Amino acid sequence: MRIRHPLLVVALATAALTATPAAAFATTGGHPPVGSGTTIHDTQPSLRILAQRSGLRVGAAVNMDLYGSDATYTAIVNQQFSTVSPENVMKWQLVEPTQGTYDWAPADRLVAGARAAHQLVRGHTLVWHNQLPSWLSTDGVTTSFTPQQVRDLLHKHVTDEVTHFKGQIWQWDVVNEAFADDGTPRQDIFYQAYQALGMNGTDYIADAFRWAHEADPRALLFYNDYNLEFTGAKSNAVYAFVQQLQAQGVPIDGVGFQGHLDTQYGFPDLQNNLTRFAALGLKVALTEVDVRTFVQPDPANPGAYTDIPLTPALQATQQSYWTQLLQACLAVRQCLSFTAWGVDDGHSWIPGVFHGEGAGLLFDPSYHPKPQYQELRKVLLTTHAPRRS
Ligand code: G3I
Repeated sequence: MRIRHPLLVVALATAALTATPAAAFATTGGHPPVGSGTTIHDTQPSLRILAQRSGLRVGAAVNMDLYGSDATYTAIVNQQFSTVSPENVMKWQLVEPTQGTYDWAPADRLVAGARAAHQLVRGHTLVWHNQLPSWLSTDGVTTSFTPQQVRDLLHKHVTDEVTHFKGQIWQWDVVNEAFADDGTPRQDIFYQAYQALGMNGTDYIADAFRWAHEADPRALLFYNDYNLEFTGAKSNAVYAFVQQLQAQGVPIDGVGFQGHLDTQYGFPDLQNNLTRFAALGLKVALTEVDVRTFVQPDPANPGAYTDIPLTPALQATQQSYWTQLLQACLAVRQCLSFTAWGVDDGHSWIPGVFHGEGAGLLFDPSYHPKPQYQELRKVLLTTHAPRRS
């Protein structure tokens, strides 16, 4: 059943939320099952349907090793989300593994799937010091190319990639993570090349936005970073920097707040930061949300971990953080999208990077929706948010 009337959606959804006894899902650890005939979409309105009322797009980063081959994973992506981001396949390392030879196939598959599922695509990401092709740099700070060659290669890369996807990308993360936590610009190969050419090191950022705009004037162009969620050296530096870009007439449309939170730290003053960036005339977005916490060791596999939080208090904090993240975005009319960085805890970048932490996403490794998922549904149902512009 596809329901189009927003008020009917809300009424039905409220009924579903209040009428479904938790005991009904006892055999799946308290989580309603998905993918074995009865999907979430069949029994309760999805995140994407509930978010229609405010015009917010809800999204997920998609792992192309699973998309299309894992039926349950793919069904969740299509049923729950109205925007998708490639977790890896649009990064420079993956699109041009050999210099001059492009591999667009996995990203093309995502773009085609998104079109079929009536989803918008966030392009991620054109310029980043990480995941560069090895022929260009293996560490992000050294390269065998001359400064002018680096600038020319950057120009070609941005132009070729944006041109390839022209008309199919809603928001591009043009430049990703260009500032360090202390607010200084990251001195990667692009920064160093521009300095060596006698320009400001950060001028590559303005160039990238201009080149992207030339290649696809209709795409929304974003600067994207982590640790912008709270007021501090980094968010202040980026706040000042985007104003410089605007003053120079650089075509920047928005700022992406990644939203990788951890329960061991306090919840950031996110709404303040979204609001002050939006007040500059920019769009904002939550682009890579996950909320990690410390998890229980796996008794069956020494050295491995489950996706179960160590304590009920940590689980409660995770739920509260997801709620507050979504509420902050909903409260700011210019916050266009809210994207989780992945679908399930079994395929998340977190355990590989933060030892003993995990459980950052909305679905467990068996694809059962977690309490965080239900929290987001409640927020979407009960918040009277301004419609997105
Ligand atoms: O594809 C290769 C595979 O061939 C090889 O066998 C395997 C061995 O390790 O590596 C595979 O590549 C991995 C790639 O993900 C694809 O799975 C890389 O090692 C791994 O480092 C890479 O991690 C990605 C990470 O960015 C790189 O920094 C994560 O999946 C991805 O979630 C993560 O995403 C970033 C955002 O782009 C920017 N913001 C932070 C966020 C989390 O780190």
